[in-house]
Amino acid sequence: MNTRVKVCKLGDIAPGEMKPVDVAGLKPIALFNLDGTHYATSNICTHNIAMLTDGYFEGEVVECPLHGGSFDIKTGEPLSFPCEIALQTYPVIVEGDEIYIEAEVEA
Ligand code: FES
Repeated sequence: MNTRVKVCKLGDIAPGEMKPVDVAGLKPIALFNLDGTHYATSNICTHNIAMLTDGYFEGEVVECPLHGGSFDIKTGEPLSFPCEIALQTYPVIVEGDEIYIEAEVEA
């Protein structure tokens, strides 16, 4: 069952920024602010082991720092070689000045 988990304050991530988020019981999460709308995906590239928040974020695309593959931050779908497997995505909820994601958290 999905649990709502607080990840940061609204003011912690400006438009056009991405941010790594660590939540107990979850793999690393990447949080994105795309023109005021927030998206969350796994932060680990599905091609190999690289943190996407060490890469580049432009428009709706995050580019991996290691081999330059890229993903759509809204859907997690791979957009360019060598990435072929989609990233996991998480629903994001903004309530007041807090940002939450919904995820299946391991106890
Ligand atoms: S590890 Fe991300 S593209 Fe290779």
